Amino acid sequence: MVDPHRILISERRIHRRVAQLARAIDRHYAGRSLVVAGVLNGSFMFLADLLRKLKTPSEVEFLAASSYGSGTRSRGRVTFDRRRKFPVKGREVLLVDDILDTGLTLRALTGFLRRQEVSSLEICVLLRKRMRRTGAIRPRFIGFDVPDRFVFGYGLDLAGRFRNLPHIACHREKPSRRPA
Ligand code: IMP
Ligand code: MG
Repeated sequence: MVDPHRILISERRIHRRVAQLARAIDRHYAGRSLVVAGVLNGSFMFLADLLRKLKTPSEVEFLAASSYGSGTRSRGRVTFDRRRKFPVKGREVLLVDDILDTGLTLRALTGFLRRQEVSSLEICVLLRKRMRRTGAIRPRFIGFDVPDRFVFGYGLDLAGRFRNLPHIACHREKPSRRPA
């Protein structure tokens, strides 16, 4: 059974915003070429839609990272495969992730990429949790600010499920209890 959830960002709004982001990225990289590095798993749907709209000549790479277990609480550490050959030396890299929450994942990945001596590095996230203090991580391209709640759909999962929803959803608020 599908959990009762509420649509936070509709499919239509997502597609409109993704097209705007692609135009902004094209303007930023005008006359240059890119390596777009997608953070798996959460960014796969966003990345696929974004790439279809992008006119900048782009190669695509993937990094698999995880900072969450099967629940909704960050484990406070990031794991990813550092040994993989990642041909980005001297390249302009756009790191694409689904959501900026604590910034831990993107901090680890930007550190890794900088050590590969990329010539430039920018970040594009579909979502940013508004209340978070993410320190040094400042994405140049941001789709939507969302409330500090767990969201899912359009690539993002809730304990492994709901990645295939075409919209971004969150759980329905529980009805507040009246004081006795
Ligand atoms: P951070 O390292 O805390 O910034 O977490 C980033 C990663 O955790 C994202 O790339 C997501 O995969 C996952 N994540 C964080 N918040 C959510 C959420 O609300 N829904 C689904 N995944 C999330
Ligand atoms: Mg992720």
